Amino acid sequence: MTTKRSSRSAPKTAPTLRPHVLVVHGPNLNLLGSREPKHYGLATLDDIDRSLTSRGESVGAQIETFQHNHEGALIDRIHQAARDQVDFIIINPAGYTHSSVALRDALAAVAIPFVEVHLSNIHARESFRQHSYFSDIAVGVVSGLGAHGYELALEFALRHLQNRTSHGSQKTEKAH
Ligand code: DQA
Repeated sequence: MTTKRSSRSAPKTAPTLRPHVLVVHGPNLNLLGSREPKHYGLATLDDIDRSLTSRGESVGAQIETFQHNHEGALIDRIHQAARDQVDFIIINPAGYTHSSVALRDALAAVAIPFVEVHLSNIHARESFRQHSYFSDIAVGVVSGLGAHGYELALEFALRHLQNRTSHGSQKTEKAH
């Protein structure tokens, strides 16, 4: 005997839209804590990632973090984010901010909204740091607020995604 599930029967668990945020850190940010603390502060990358992950967990969001020193690896991770249906990216492109058309193109290609974060105020530093290849396609930029800037970017992302959830979304609903 075969049983056919009625298309009208209720699913066992209600589908929910769990926000999925990817945090990407560019080159040399693995050295945070000891790297030029007058510009970048004393928090380590691990401190920053742990604080973002635990804030995400507290509101049921999935936070993934990724650091790499190589441009191609950062580009590949952004392509992967599209396949993983990541909703929002927080990125500190670090030195690639001022040089990488390819990393910018990757973000434009996947069309995932993103906030650009810098620990230091890049506009108050050397002139070569004052141009970013990312800012004009970012939703927004946080610069000069130290590690707190990542937290503010995450709060923004969560609020942005909450509005999306309450106003409808293109994302495939996942049952958890
Ligand atoms: C940085 C600023 C960049 O100019 C620099 O190359 C970095 C870090 C920041 O977070 O302030 O590596 O993105």
